[in-house]
Amino acid sequence: MIRLFSFAFLFLVLAITVTWFGEDVHRNRYLPPSVDLLTATAEQISQQLQNRSITSLQLVKERVRRIELDNTQGFGLQAVMNVVPYETLIEMAKTRDVERMANNIHGPLLRIPIIVKVNNESP
Ligand SMILES: *[C@@H]1O[C@H](CO)[C@@H](O)[C@H](O)[C@H]1NC(C)=O
Repeated sequence: MIRLFSFAFLFLVLAITVTWFGEDVHRNRYLPPSVDLLTATAEQISQQLQNRSITSLQLVKERVRRIELDNTQGFGLQAVMNVVPYETLIEMAKTRDVERMANNIHGPLLRIPIIVKVNNESP
């Protein structure tokens, strides 16, 4: 009987551990799993936007999620100081998606979210 309870307890602990740690927070939530934002080049992202395997809205949502994940929560890197207000980003992304649907393409880098590094200590 004790052995059965021990086994049940062990199973419960295992189940909780798998549930708790099983979710990979760095897995894409808004983009297909084939897109790796850590290694993707601007050219690859541009191609994926052009061949419609991803949208600007998905890209912006995932970028903001990842900034929040690593910058303020999680690692707490505090590397990103300012982000354009979320509503503004969403509106910009939706506009870019509508333009793309109408084949109104301005340039290959227009829809790529970027981070600008500022050196405050520079002379
Ligand atoms: C879209 O472009 C990406 C990057 O070049 C490529 O890996 C992917 O297979 C393409 N998808 C389609 C549906 O053409």
